[in-house]
Amino acid sequence: MEHGAVRGIAFDLYGTLIDVNGVQEACGTVAQDPAAFTSLWRQKQLEYTFLRGLMGRYEDFWQVTEASLRYTLKRFSLQATERDRRRLMEAWLHLPPFPDVMATLPKLQGYALAVLSNGSPPMLEGVLANSGLTPSFRWVLSADAAKIYKPSPKVYALGPEGMGLPKEAILFVSSNAFDVAGAKAFGFPVCWLNRAGVPLDELGLEPDMMVRSFGELLPALER
Ligand code: LAC
Repeated sequence: MEHGAVRGIAFDLYGTLIDVNGVQEACGTVAQDPAAFTSLWRQKQLEYTFLRGLMGRYEDFWQVTEASLRYTLKRFSLQATERDRRRLMEAWLHLPPFPDVMATLPKLQGYALAVLSNGSPPMLEGVLANSGLTPSFRWVLSADAAKIYKPSPKVYALGPEGMGLPKEAILFVSSNAFDVAGAKAFGFPVCWLNRAGVPLDELGLEPDMMVRSFGELLPALER
């Protein structure tokens, strides 16, 4: 990859800029093991996006997140009031950014920056505003415009369309391995923010670069 060709950067949101484990605190009010509860909720949330994509049955990410919450409550045999459920859902609007994101984003302002996420427009607006990240991004692009989820190429195509740049000039950054493969299959140059230090999925699609923290992104681009 020719790093000098990169003019814009499109970021995945959940798990990349924003820490989804932030819902754990809210989950602690209904679940005995909030970490296990959060992990299954996130797993089912993503699984439902994949299944809905394959079935051609799109529902927005808020609805998918609510459905996966209902499943997770049942799986753990937990009763939750309407008020509990609302509080758990609202936690998605108040997730914290990773600290390394707050420190690094100002240094990346020489690039055209976008968020490209599965989140529905109100979810994205809410969490970006509440975390103070809104001013950092020129574009906030939601899979809702394509009515399907990542890793559909229709979602990644929102990047070049919205940002007005060729895909080769947009570095896509994600911590989610399936998203790295999807973005690479679409034709973006890709940086895998491998926060968890896990192996690459065996899909025959390799990122152009890998970093372990957000702070390593700029030095890797300048290399
Ligand atoms: C997103 C999910 C994949 O933000 O994390 O699109």
